[in-house]
Amino acid sequence: MDRRKFMIGGVAIAAAGTFLKPSDMGAPYNPYFSQLNGELKTRGTYVPSMVVDIDIVDENIVALKEILNPKTDLRIVAKSLPSPELLAHIMEKAETNKLMVFHQPFLSNIADNFPTSDVLMGKPMPVKAAEKFYQLHDNDLPFKPSNQLQWLIDSKERLQQYLALAKSQNLAMQINIELDVGLHRGGLQQSAELDELLAIIHDNAKHLTFTGFMGYDPHVVKLPSIVKSADDAYQDSQAIYQSFIDKLYALAPDYKNKKLCLNGAGSPTIAMHKTNTIANELSAGSCLVKPIDFDIPSLAQFKPAAFIATPVLKKMAGTQIPAVEFAKDIFPLWDANMAQTFFIYGGKWLAKFESPQGLQDNGLFGSSTNQAIVNGSNKVNINVDDHVFLRPTQSEFVFLQFGSLLAVKNQKLIANWPILAQG
Ligand SMILES: Cc1ncc(COP(=O)(O)O)c(C=O)c1O
Repeated sequence: MDRRKFMIGGVAIAAAGTFLKPSDMGAPYNPYFSQLNGELKTRGTYVPSMVVDIDIVDENIVALKEILNPKTDLRIVAKSLPSPELLAHIMEKAETNKLMVFHQPFLSNIADNFPTSDVLMGKPMPVKAAEKFYQLHDNDLPFKPSNQLQWLIDSKERLQQYLALAKSQNLAMQINIELDVGLHRGGLQQSAELDELLAIIHDNAKHLTFTGFMGYDPHVVKLPSIVKSADDAYQDSQAIYQSFIDKLYALAPDYKNKKLCLNGAGSPTIAMHKTNTIANELSAGSCLVKPIDFDIPSLAQFKPAAFIATPVLKKMAGTQIPAVEFAKDIFPLWDANMAQTFFIYGGKWLAKFESPQGLQDNGLFGSSTNQAIVNGSNKVNINVDDHVFLRPTQSEFVFLQFGSLLAVKNQKLIANWPILAQG
C-alpha cells in the first residue's frame, strides 16, 4: 500500500471510530428525581417499587377529558391501572363509574370493592371463569351482576356455553358482543353472524339480555402509513362498526329506543374519536400513566407518571467482566458510559433506564432479575442506597410485579396502594 492510500485509510478509520465511539450520555439526577430519591431514601420501601406520581396522573386525566368526545362516556381500563385505590382515585377525578375488566380475580375484587361500578369485560372469559365469579360472588353485596356486569361474547359457541351456565344457575346475564373492526383479534367479522347470536339471546330472554357491542381499534394508529393512513383506517373501522349497528336495527328495530353500550377505542385511538364516533363510550387506561409503548403522536399531551425505583446495592469504578478483568479500565476508554458499574436491587423488568440519565445494561456481563448490572459515566453521581429510576414499557404486567404502588404527590410519599388481587 502506498503512503497516500495508507494515510487516507487511517483518516477514514479514525473518522469512523469517532463516529461510532459512544458519547458520554451521563448526567446527575434532575431536580425531580433528586427529590424523589431523597424521599425514598428516608421514607421508601428499600426494595424495588413502582412509584406513581398522582399529580401527573391528575394532569393526564385533564388531558384525557380534553380529547374525549363530549358525547361519549369514559370507561377506565382496569388492567392498565391495577390497583383499587388508584382506580378509585381516577374514577372520582374522571367522574365515571365505568370500568373495563380483563381478569376474573380482578372482577371479583371490583364487584366487592366498587359497589356502584358498571363493568364491561374486555375479553371473552372461559365459561368456567365466569362460573367461578358467580361461585365467589356474595348475592347480598350491593354489586348486582345482572345489571352491572356485561360479559363479552365473541362466538355462538361461547354464547351457548354462557347460556348453559345461566340456565343451570338460574342467572340473568348481560351480553355484549365483540366486533372485529379491523384488529383481527377475534370477535364477529360479518354482520350476518349477528342473526344467530341475537336469536339465541332473544329466545332466552329470561337468562340473556343483549346490551351492546365492543369494537377495539388500536391497529388504526399502528398500520404503516404506506399501507393505510390512520384517518382511512379509522373510517374503515367505523364503517365496520356501523354495519353491525345497521344489522342490529334491521333485525330488531326496538333497540333504536334502548340505551346500548357501544364501546370503542383505547388510549392509542381515543383522540381520533373526538369529533366523530359511532361509539357512545370510549375506553382508556394506559395513557393515564403513559408507559413507553404509549409514546405515540396521538398521546403527545400525556406525561409519564409511573417509574420503577430500585436501590443501588454496589458501586465500582470501571467495568469488570469475568475472565477479561484486564479490560476493566479499557472499556471506559472506548465507552465513557462504562466508567462506573452499579448493581441494583432486582432487574430485567419490561422497562428502560430513566434517571440518572445515561445508564445502560451490559450485554457482556448479562442480565439478572436478582442483581442487575448497570453502567454509567462518571457524570452519573449516585451512590449505594440511592435509587435508579426506570420507566416501564407497559403498565398492565409490570405493575403486577410489585406488591403495591407508592403514590407520590409533590415528590412526597402519600400512600402505599396494594395491587389488585392476583387470585
Ligand atoms: C378491549 C380493549 N379496550 C381498550 C383497551 C385499551 O387499554 P389502554 O388504554 O390501557 O391501552 C384495551 C387494551 O388492551 C383492550 O383490549
